[in-house]
Amino acid sequence: MHNRDPFDRYRKLSRRAFVSSLAVCSTVTAASDDDALWDEYLAWLKGRAVGDLVGLETYRKTLTERGVPKPEVERRMKTISERSLKRPEAMRLWFNSMYGPNGAIGPDWPTPLLMEAVKGITPGASLDVCMGEGRNSVFLASLGWKATGFDVSDIAVANALVKAKKAGVRIEAIRSGYQEFDFGHEKWDLVVMTYAYFPIRDRKYVGRLIASMRQGGLLVFQYGVVNRGADRTGDASLIGVPEAGELKQIFRALRILHYEEKEELSDWQVGQGGRKGQSVKMLAQKP
Ligand SMILES: C[S@@+](CC[C@H](N)C(=O)[O-])C[C@H]1O[C@@H](n2cnc3c(N)ncnc32)[C@H](O)[C@@H]1O
Repeated sequence: MHNRDPFDRYRKLSRRAFVSSLAVCSTVTAASDDDALWDEYLAWLKGRAVGDLVGLETYRKTLTERGVPKPEVERRMKTISERSLKRPEAMRLWFNSMYGPNGAIGPDWPTPLLMEAVKGITPGASLDVCMGEGRNSVFLASLGWKATGFDVSDIAVANALVKAKKAGVRIEAIRSGYQEFDFGHEKWDLVVMTYAYFPIRDRKYVGRLIASMRQGGLLVFQYGVVNRGADRTGDASLIGVPEAGELKQIFRALRILHYEEKEELSDWQVGQGGRKGQSVKMLAQKP
C-alpha cells in the first residue's frame, strides 16, 4: 500500500538527518574530547623533566594516582601515544626540558663515521636530520660545507647556533619537526642521520628524504639496532630504531657503500658509563 501522507517523506528525511547529525555530533565530541585530553597531557609535560620518553609512563602513573579508572587511563593513553608518534609537540616539549641552556647530556664531538665519510670530498650542501645541538653540522661547516640542520627542539637549535658562533662558522639551524620540514628536491649532497628520531618505516618520509638528495649525494646513518622481531611499538616506534638488516631494505633505492652492525657504545653512551649495545652504521649513495 502506498503511504499517502504528504509529510511522511519529509518526516523520514528529517529523522535520517537527525540520526546522521547525531553521528556527526558524536564524532565532533570524540574529536574535541581527544583534543582536550591531548592538551591536558601537553600542559602536564611542559617544562617537566621526566626520564621516560615523552613522559608516557609517568603520565599513565599520574592519571592512575589521580584516581582515573583504569579503562579510562588506557583510553587516554592510546590517543596520547598515537598523537605523540604523529605530531611533533610532545617531542618538542620533552627535548626542550632535556636540553639545558648549557648544552645537553649528549656528545659534543662529531660522529667518527661522518668524519671518515667526508674525507677528501668536495664540500657541498648538507642536511643534518634531527640535528640536536649541531655537533655534526658545526663540524661540516668547519670543513666548508653549507650546513643546514633541523630539530624539533627550540633549545637544541639555539644551542647549535651558539656552538657554531663559538666555532666561528655559519650554519643554518631550523626549528622544525620532520613532520612539517620542507626537505626540498635534489638539494643535498650529504644527508646526516645520527640517532635521528625519524620514522624510517614510513615510506612517505623516507621518500621525501631520498627525493631531497642530489644524484651522487651521500647518506650517513648511525643508530642503535634492535633484534629482528623485537617489539617495535611504544618507544621503538617513536624513536625509529631499525631492526638488524632492515636499513638496507628501507634504503634500497640507494647504493650501499658501507654497512656494519656491531656491539659498541653508542655516541650517546660514551663517557656516561652506559652499556654496549648493537649499533648500525651505513654509508649510502643516491645513484
Ligand atoms: C638522540 S638526539 C640526536 C641528535 C643528533 N643527531 C646527534 O647525533 O647528536 C635525537 C634528536 O631528535 C630530535 N627530534 C625528536 N623528534 C623530532 C621530530 N619529530 N622532528 C625533528 N627532530 C626531532 C630531538 O630534539 C633530538 O635532538
